[in-house]
Amino acid sequence: MLAQEIIRIKRDGHRLERSHIDHFVHGLVDGTWSEGQAAALAMAMFLNGMSRDETVNLTQAMTHSGQVMDWSNAHLHGPVLDKHSSGGVGDKISLMLAPIVAACGGVVPMISGRGLGHTGGTLDKLGCIPGYQATPDLATLQQALKTAGFAIIGQTAELAPADRRLYAIRDVTATVESVPLITASILSKKLAAGLQGLVMDVKVGNGAFASSLEMASALAQSLVSVATGACLPTRAWLTDMNQVLGQTCGNALEVLEAIAFLKGEALEPRQLLVTRTLSAELLLMGSLAANEADALQKVDQAIASGRGLEQFSRMISALGGPADLADRPRHYLPSAPVQVVVKSPRSGWVSSMATRDIGLLIVELGGGRRQASDMIDARVGFSQFAQIGRQVQAGEPLAVVHAADAAAAEYACQQLLTKIQIAETPVTPAPVLMQCIKKPTVF
Ligand code: URA
Repeated sequence: MLAQEIIRIKRDGHRLERSHIDHFVHGLVDGTWSEGQAAALAMAMFLNGMSRDETVNLTQAMTHSGQVMDWSNAHLHGPVLDKHSSGGVGDKISLMLAPIVAACGGVVPMISGRGLGHTGGTLDKLGCIPGYQATPDLATLQQALKTAGFAIIGQTAELAPADRRLYAIRDVTATVESVPLITASILSKKLAAGLQGLVMDVKVGNGAFASSLEMASALAQSLVSVATGACLPTRAWLTDMNQVLGQTCGNALEVLEAIAFLKGEALEPRQLLVTRTLSAELLLMGSLAANEADALQKVDQAIASGRGLEQFSRMISALGGPADLADRPRHYLPSAPVQVVVKSPRSGWVSSMATRDIGLLIVELGGGRRQASDMIDARVGFSQFAQIGRQVQAGEPLAVVHAADAAAAEYACQQLLTKIQIAETPVTPAPVLMQCIKKPTVF
């Protein structure tokens, strides 16, 4: 079989057989498909779409392109569960959800990524913790899962290597925003992690990859349908991403907020609602709670008792970070030398924000990458971010900019004021929880 013949089939709008997809995926891993050929097929898939069967076949082939973890002999103490977000601004839910679920009896081997485009990545957030080892060997990973009940690590070279190569090609050929390709990419990594239950947080809005409810619903349906077809019980929540989630965005600042949250000190309502709901969903999927009320109560207890924070500290320590990070976060986490309050130019109500642009502003401050090889400045970002619906007086803070120098801070202040709208009348924010998809509709 020739690669160009397979590309031709998809280019002409026909369906690919399993054997075609297997050929492509093998070729991605052993290099017999060139970058140009892989990019051409990705573009044909992007433009002509993929059926559910094609998406299942691509997902399964990419899952088995490398190591598939099997935890059955690892003597873990609970069901193996995970959460994955499609990406947003200020989205630090994983840092709080994973230790909470661990405190409630689940085991969470969370494979996370670096920031992508305007969105932050969990791995970049944890990367600012001194000594933190995001690519541990299997023995260290298993030890972390046993002692802390969770571990947040990066994608290893062995895990879904076909996705690794295809993703890098898609990233530079404008073929990321395709429902079947995103589905296969996310689920191949999750299936390779040997999970028993997955909850997806599909973000919708002007700070998400899926800006419309229509695209987010299609992605959520596709994820639930394909995962269920591959025997991975999966639910998807659509959640609002038309504003920064929580009070901070920027790597070190988000770790600080997550620690404060686990101490019960920074329970910003929207962030709390998403964390509680998604955590409870996992407890139900893992049969760790009798019903929804029981699951939510267990989540609340994990926060109030400090057990979530304890699991967090154990995980940081198991992966090489300071054991007392939660006691002295400001001692260990880098802070920006310049911090400037962004003052509201007028009195009114925060009515909307250009969330994607705010994510890009963090990239401009150095908190994200322009090129894959860039180093990031973990210190920069925004704190005390005003939420939509908040009433402000002229001169009151809308946020605090954290920057590397005065010029960058001044620039970010000016820019941020153009990204936040203030209305003259009260505004009610859209609910953060929009819809839950528990069952595939077409199956
Ligand atoms: N995240 C992934 O892992 N893959 C995609 O294609 C998009 C987001």
